[in-house]
Amino acid sequence: MVARPAQNRSTEAVDVSVVGIDVDLVGRGLNRVQREIDSIFDAFLGVPSDTRSRLVEAMRYAAIGGGKRVRPLLVVSTAELFGVDRTAALRAGAAVEAIHVYSLIHDDLPCMDDDDLRHGKPTLHKAFDEATAVLAGDALHALAFEILSDQEISADPFIRSELIATLGKASGMHGMAGGQIMDMIADEEGVDYDLHTITRLQQLKTGALLAASVEMGAILGKIAPEARVHLRAYSRDIGLAFQITDDLLDVEGDPELAGKTLRKDSKQGKQTFVTLMGVDKAREQARALVDQAIAHLVSHGAEADMLRALARFIVERDR
Ligand code: IPE
Ligand code: IPE
Ligand code: MG
Ligand code: MG
Ligand code: MG
Repeated sequence: MVARPAQNRSTEAVDVSVVGIDVDLVGRGLNRVQREIDSIFDAFLGVPSDTRSRLVEAMRYAAIGGGKRVRPLLVVSTAELFGVDRTAALRAGAAVEAIHVYSLIHDDLPCMDDDDLRHGKPTLHKAFDEATAVLAGDALHALAFEILSDQEISADPFIRSELIATLGKASGMHGMAGGQIMDMIADEEGVDYDLHTITRLQQLKTGALLAASVEMGAILGKIAPEARVHLRAYSRDIGLAFQITDDLLDVEGDPELAGKTLRKDSKQGKQTFVTLMGVDKAREQARALVDQAIAHLVSHGAEADMLRALARFIVERDR
């Protein structure tokens, strides 16, 4: 299902300023998850002493250090609502992050966004070479499903298979890859997307993996699909808000903090909320989506504060 932009809901609007969101909570949460995810990748990516070493060195270069790890924190924070063992949630988070890292490696390739800088260092194809970058992406893609199919994540084969199906759908034509092709086609002559189509593009290329992160936390918590409806609504809203913010950062962000080349989207003919409605309206839209996302968590108490704070962080971040 495609999320619609936030409606002007004056009667239902929630004043998030009174919810008492602790911004430091996200900083602490991300720092902890960054260390934990780095150590999981370190353990999975032992460098072989043969000619495959270049591939694994490249995977390590892209996967260890650098990323904010928003997706693993979403998995862990959702899983925590339901008392899931942290080790299992982190493994699921590492699987989503492996897909995310692979998507960035391919996104940066000359045939896609043609970027030279990621996480403040040369992109993988610059530091190694294009063939190695393609293969490192392929191997991280495969690693994600290897992690989810391992009994360490859950002894229950139904849970493992639901995790695999959820991440598979969010990564492929119904998710990230589907959104990426819409993004690529956007710069072709005569292609003019309307708001509905841009919303769908963003929801697929970025929203799908963020939504899968929340969904996987709930799957590990053995929460029935009908009881996940409010979490899906939350993640649909933050997913869209996340990409709108990325597009805003492209226009107004500090390249030093972002660690990637900015001011490129309009030059490359990207079609985004920002190109369609301008900076101010796009920011307003992103903030409205976050208010809406937080309102979806109304049935939860303080145990959902990390998800609330994370939603706020997603639009107020500077990187
Ligand atoms: C960047 O994602 C690409 C998008 C999907 C918008 P992040 O901003 O989560 O990237 P890192 O992993 O933190 O660098
Ligand atoms: C990337 O979107 C989305 C992915 C699926 C990787 P962008 O192309 O805007 O991400 P950045 O700005 O390069 O990080
Ligand atoms: Mg791109
Ligand atoms: Mg890009
Ligand atoms: Mg971008």
